[in-house]
Amino acid sequence: MFNVGLLLLTVGSVLSASINHRELSMLRIAHQERGILTFSFDHSKSSSRSLDLLGTTQAGFRPGWLHLHDNLIYSVSRTSYPNNRSSSGGVFSFDKNAEDPDALSLVISQSSNGMGGVFCDVARDGRTLSVANIDGSTVSIYPLSSHGIIGDATFVFKYNLTHPGPGTNESQIQSNPHAAAFDPTGEYMIVPDRGADHVYVYHVDGPERVTQINNITLESGTGPRHVTFRVFNCTRTFMYLVSELDNMIRVFALDGVNNDSRGLRPHSSLSISLVQIVSTLGHGSNRSEPNNTNLAAEVALSNDGMFAYVSNRNTVSYSTDTLAIYSVHPDALEHLVYIGNTPTYGKIPRHFSISPDSRFIAVANEVSNNLIILERDQTSGRVNSVVGNVTLGEFDLTQNNGPMAVVWDSKVKYYL
Ligand SMILES: *[C@@H]1O[C@H](CO)[C@@H](O)[C@H](O)[C@H]1NC(C)=O
Ligand SMILES: *[C@@H]1O[C@H](CO)[C@@H](O)[C@H](O)[C@H]1NC(C)=O
Ligand SMILES: *[C@@H]1O[C@H](CO)[C@@H](O)[C@H](O)[C@H]1NC(C)=O
Ligand SMILES: *[C@@H]1O[C@H](CO)[C@@H](O)[C@H](O)[C@H]1NC(C)=O
Ligand SMILES: *[C@@H]1O[C@H](CO)[C@@H](O)[C@H](O)[C@H]1NC(C)=O
Ligand SMILES: *[C@@H]1O[C@H](CO)[C@@H](O)[C@H](O)[C@H]1NC(C)=O
Ligand SMILES: *[C@@H]1O[C@H](CO)[C@@H](O)[C@H](O)[C@H]1NC(C)=O
Ligand SMILES: *[C@@H]1O[C@H](CO)[C@@H](O)[C@H](O)[C@H]1NC(C)=O
Ligand SMILES: *[C@@H]1O[C@H](CO)[C@@H](O)[C@H](O)[C@H]1NC(C)=O
Repeated sequence: MFNVGLLLLTVGSVLSASINHRELSMLRIAHQERGILTFSFDHSKSSSRSLDLLGTTQAGFRPGWLHLHDNLIYSVSRTSYPNNRSSSGGVFSFDKNAEDPDALSLVISQSSNGMGGVFCDVARDGRTLSVANIDGSTVSIYPLSSHGIIGDATFVFKYNLTHPGPGTNESQIQSNPHAAAFDPTGEYMIVPDRGADHVYVYHVDGPERVTQINNITLESGTGPRHVTFRVFNCTRTFMYLVSELDNMIRVFALDGVNNDSRGLRPHSSLSISLVQIVSTLGHGSNRSEPNNTNLAAEVALSNDGMFAYVSNRNTVSYSTDTLAIYSVHPDALEHLVYIGNTPTYGKIPRHFSISPDSRFIAVANEVSNNLIILERDQTSGRVNSVVGNVTLGEFDLTQNNGPMAVVWDSKVKYYL
């Protein structure tokens, strides 16, 4: 009797708690035509009803990248900042409103100092902001003061190509910095240059001291695009570089990047060594010709570090594109082992993000103009099912209107 009563009491309090509020995940999407879209995601609903548009925020002409830091959202717009007389992009910071999660308020915006804003990142110190401009061949560095106020650029690095590369479709006729990503310590910044087949390495000591210390020269026709990092323990960090022209992931070991709170180390302590090159197109695939048929886009690891994912964009077929899936083996020579792929249920998955609890992958399919949520099997790394599916506009072959980036935001409580 006593046990039954306790059980009822417990069930009753769970019920009343769930009547008072629900906790839902939130997603932010950079949509070129519509601005920053805020969606809630309710896994208890069917895939066609689980995503709910909460709000839309203007963020310049063709916003294409998002980065979350503290309670702020940073975005980058492609061009026409501050108006159509300018070809430069812009960088924007927004404050999240605790009471009203879909209402983002603009803190400040600045010129990105180059045409084709594509990427931004904030270093771990929260004081240094980077922006990459792919067509203007520049990377800009900004100081952040309290609450997301972006100061005037402290550096605008300009890259010059001496010889065009073999990439077709004008992909290698100039320097094209595609990212400017900080490593997990925030002491290094990595700039993959698609046009030049180089990766520039900077030492970072706050926004006033950013110094190029190294660059990695890759094989001609590689087209390096994005990087992600994984700290496996206090002495070993790996860097995963995806390249869109040869459709490869290169795994590098970063030694001398320590997460041990000892403060800054001398620049010379960083050593970068190539561990593995593996195709994004499956078993036995070699480096692609740089002919713009397949263009790998984004790379990410699950939060447990056990699986890696990369998105493949095929520019000639109309069938769905894919995410390639790898298991991760930090102690083996074959660091990434290809285990298969999953459809993205759309065309041109320019970007995807794994949810903080690693259960879901949100995919931004740029040309089919849809957002898809996939559910992962956390043991096998494979994808089980589609649990979210929303159309954001017309299927768009010009590739100029759809979603460019998607990020998971913190969960919000909805009081009923
Ligand atoms: C700026 O140019 C874009 C693209 O050409 C156009 O869609 C937009 O209407 C223009 N905006 C203004 C304010 O002229
Ligand atoms: C590229 O050229 C610009 C202008 O000619 C120059 O100021 C800059 O230092 C050059 N950058 C590099 C990395 O050589
Ligand atoms: C690349 O150029 C070829 C020839 O002009 C064109 O047919 C193809 O559509 C272009 N591919 C992309 C991805 O732009
Ligand atoms: C550094 O290590 C601490 C403790 O293991 C961890 O909480 C923190 O996330 C790590 N920081 C980075 C940047 O990896
Ligand atoms: C990268 O390194 C190569 C070889 O050391 C050098 O020729 C080139 O100028 C460097 N490029 C930049 C932008 O530092
Ligand atoms: C990759 O290259 C190797 C060595 O040249 C060749 O034997 C193999 O057939 C190639 N694989 C594919 C899928 O073309
Ligand atoms: C592009 O390169 C691949 C090999 O990577 C080849 O199979 C394909 O036929 C090429 N396509 C064109 C249009 O040249
Ligand atoms: C750190 O991880 C690497 C890669 O897994 C491993 O080789 C090394 O032994 C580890 N070091 C420590 C101190 O655990
Ligand atoms: C997503 O929804 C559209 C209709 O809005 C439907 O045509 C499509 O088949 C759905 N895709 C998946 C993977 O459920």
